[in-house]
Amino acid sequence: MTDIAQIALAGLLAPRKTLPPSLFYDEEGCRLFYRITELPEYYLTRTERVLLADIGPTVAAEAGPNAVLVEYGASHEEKAGYLLATPGAFRSYIPIDVAAGELERLRTRMATSHPGLDVRPVAADFMQPITLSLPTGAPVLGFFPGSTIGNMEPEAARDFLIRAAASLGKGARFLLGADLRKAPAELIPAYDDAQGVTAAFNCNLLVRLNREAGADFDLAAFRHEAVWNDPESRIEMHLVSLRRQEVRLHGAMIRFQEGETIHTENSYKHTPERLLGIARAAGWSPRRQWTDPAGRFGHFLLERDD
Ligand code: AVI
Repeated sequence: MTDIAQIALAGLLAPRKTLPPSLFYDEEGCRLFYRITELPEYYLTRTERVLLADIGPTVAAEAGPNAVLVEYGASHEEKAGYLLATPGAFRSYIPIDVAAGELERLRTRMATSHPGLDVRPVAADFMQPITLSLPTGAPVLGFFPGSTIGNMEPEAARDFLIRAAASLGKGARFLLGADLRKAPAELIPAYDDAQGVTAAFNCNLLVRLNREAGADFDLAAFRHEAVWNDPESRIEMHLVSLRRQEVRLHGAMIRFQEGETIHTENSYKHTPERLLGIARAAGWSPRRQWTDPAGRFGHFLLERDD
């Protein structure tokens, strides 16, 4: 059985059906996610970009001089560019991502765009422990933009920050970007856009399981749903079964009632207080924080408790 079939079956045979969001990002999923970031309703990427352009020089001054920038989930250097633009602040850039091919393309681009910078990509899954070889004595800044921290359960976010503290070492600082809690009227359209790109992104999971896990999902028998879970402070994405049906996956039978859902993603929208509580529990203290003028998106500069 393929890994994907095994992962999918574990979630689909559980009493409450789930699929892990890591399955979204095949080639088509990455293409659809890129389109999401450009949608008028998806304010996150635009807002973070403007914020980073604004705070980049201040963060670079807090990190440098001659610091090492370690970016988690860095298949593109665009966001790091706002920090790396300050001359003398960084000597080296370590982008970490599972997509080795993207990292190689990044390295080639940066050889031209940042000729004086030592770029050392690390192809790894940051949900696992990572050992980095860092120059002794150099200041280190971890960087996790994009609000991917919101796709982790709070305990998993804490564990991620504990692993980052261990990898980055004593005295490290960390810049964490996160979308913040706000009115559902603004959140829902960002996850259920008028053009249906997010719906296609969600339904692509089933296309992928049909292709890679021997499943026979009828795509017309499921619809995308984005709901706001207020007590948990998160947007949930689901695939709703439009009728009672049976689906085969790698020889196993999965039964759906009409209206039953597959829960495919959580996107937590923490308050700054809750996010900083998670960071504190992981051994990081808040040093500075910034939001855009409307308070939609935040960047939090943390320092390791040593
Ligand atoms: C990657 N991550 C921060 C996105 C989010 O907003 O939670 C994933 C996404 N899911 C639907 N739209 C975007």
